[in-house]
Amino acid sequence: MIDIHAHVLPGVDDGVVDLEESLAMLKNYEQAGVRAVFATSHVAPKRGYANTRERLEKGLERVRHAAQEANIDVTLYLGAEIDNHPQLANVLQQAPSLNDSRVVLLDFGMKQADIEEVCYELSLLDYTVIVAHPERYFYITMEAIRRLKKQGVLMQVSAPHLIKRGSKDAQKIARKMLKEGLIDFVASDAHRAKGMPGDVMKKAYQYVQKKAGTVQAERLFSENAKSWLLGRD
Ligand SMILES: [Fe+2]
Repeated sequence: MIDIHAHVLPGVDDGVVDLEESLAMLKNYEQAGVRAVFATSHVAPKRGYANTRERLEKGLERVRHAAQEANIDVTLYLGAEIDNHPQLANVLQQAPSLNDSRVVLLDFGMKQADIEEVCYELSLLDYTVIVAHPERYFYITMEAIRRLKKQGVLMQVSAPHLIKRGSKDAQKIARKMLKEGLIDFVASDAHRAKGMPGDVMKKAYQYVQKKAGTVQAERLFSENAKSWLLGRD
């Protein structure tokens, strides 16, 4: 499995607080069979997370080194979870995409946003957007999700919502999206090591396998990440 959304870098956002917690998180990933993780810290200047590419790269190197010392066999890739912003194109120039691809993970948050318009504008700049946890946006509809998918936008659903955790509304949308084949990636969006993101991913994998089959589970937990984000590796 590959987790494309995790707040595994210490001290740069509301994710893990120190290196010890990063390593505890990575150990849980390793035990559960997650082989690669994208460090997607918030880039959200309006919320006080003005992370630059340089800062996140530095944090990633630190965690990579510590993981190597601790013999933890999980590959880390650089990424970011970028908040929607009036000057998003400028923000994207300072923020990392996912593993230096043209694919960016965007958080549209709880303030109603014109997701279709934003993704269209970014497509003109040659970006492909992964919408982070669309099931959480109270204003989203299944119809809007279907339209976005037709537009070429990719969808990341959070694993907890497939295993009866988090808000009931989000769980309902996540299940519907799975049923209709509208999910591209399932990821943990882990913030804390004690949430055991590896175990959460494993349970969600088993759920998807039961409901949609092994081929689909492999796609959502691994194959799509490989083809979209690790193409050059
Ligand atoms: Fe997140």
